[in-house]
Amino acid sequence: MKLVTAVIKPFKLDDVREALSEIGIQGITVTEVKGFGRQKGHTELYRGAEYVVDFLPKIKLEVAVSSEQVDQVIEAITGAANTGKIGDGKIFVSTLEEIIRIRTGERGTDAI
Ligand SMILES: Nc1ncnc2c1ncn2[C@@H]1O[C@H](COP(=O)(O)OP(=O)(O)OP(=O)(O)O)[C@@H](O)[C@H]1O
Ligand SMILES: [Mg+2]
Repeated sequence: MKLVTAVIKPFKLDDVREALSEIGIQGITVTEVKGFGRQKGHTELYRGAEYVVDFLPKIKLEVAVSSEQVDQVIEAITGAANTGKIGDGKIFVSTLEEIIRIRTGERGTDAI
């Protein structure tokens, strides 16, 4: 199993959620975060305004998936979140050891 963590532009959240629903993803965790990438100190556009501060508002998405699904999820997020401009975000993939559905005690891919 894999944990896919994506940091995206906030206005892309609906598109990404839709793209993930279309491939059958049933659970997503979303957090409002702040961050910067390699243009630190340079300007980036957010809602039409140029920010010169280091930290910009971003959305962090976490999706737990089976290893077989991971490429499909990466494609869906990349396709929906890409504007071709700087700051589009990044996807981090890590190995997920265990998932437990609290209500039923199911574990592993059954708990996804
Ligand atoms: N190495 C990193 N570690 C942790 N978070 C990161 C890292 N790089 C980027 N992020 C997060 O992703 C957000 C978007 O990054 P961003 O898309 O600007 O990356 P980039 O490497 O600068 O690429 P680009 O040149 O396309 O802007 C950042 O605001 C930050 O929250
Ligand atoms: Mg950047």
